[in-house]
Amino acid sequence: MDYKKHIKIVQDWPKKGIKFKDITPLMDNGKVFKSAIDDIVAYAKEKKADVIVGPEARGFIIGCPVSYALEVGFVPVRKEGKLPREVIKVSYGLEYGENVLTIHKDAIKPGQRVLITDDLLATGGTIEATIKLVEELGGIVVGCAFLIELAYLNGMDKLKDYDVMALMQYK
Ligand code: PRP
Repeated sequence: MDYKKHIKIVQDWPKKGIKFKDITPLMDNGKVFKSAIDDIVAYAKEKKADVIVGPEARGFIIGCPVSYALEVGFVPVRKEGKLPREVIKVSYGLEYGENVLTIHKDAIKPGQRVLITDDLLATGGTIEATIKLVEELGGIVVGCAFLIELAYLNGMDKLKDYDVMALMQYK
């Protein structure tokens, strides 16, 4: 399917010079959204994933339906201060400042085969941090799935050791 037809490019948002990729037109078309999720489900099956992990917030939108379709668990990775029980955390640099991501300490069992989902791979900072959390808990990252890869930001460089799929690429 030509998914790009369903992405709206928003010029100069959230700031000047950025061409924001809006995924909401893809999501609000039920057939197209289902097809995108089905493609990721097929990939997850191929990788024999037995748990899905997604970072807040848009990683939830992709990861939850995949988890539902496969009847495997979904584990949220959240920004600091949002998860109620004991967590491990990792911080990573942003253009300005830093972000902290957390995961419940008991969310992944050692040896579990983890598929990480998100809407977009940009610099790769979010996914690299998510991988660190999963691996610290003993999970095996069997794949990372995205709707979109912004190839010009070279996020793939951070994921050289991992299997990655994206439904769309912007160069
Ligand atoms: C966006 C996007 C990815 C991340 C990609 O999330 O949903 O998670 O940025 O960027 P990176 O590859 O450079 O890390 P954002 O941090 O804006 O959070 P949100 O999903 O809660 O809006």
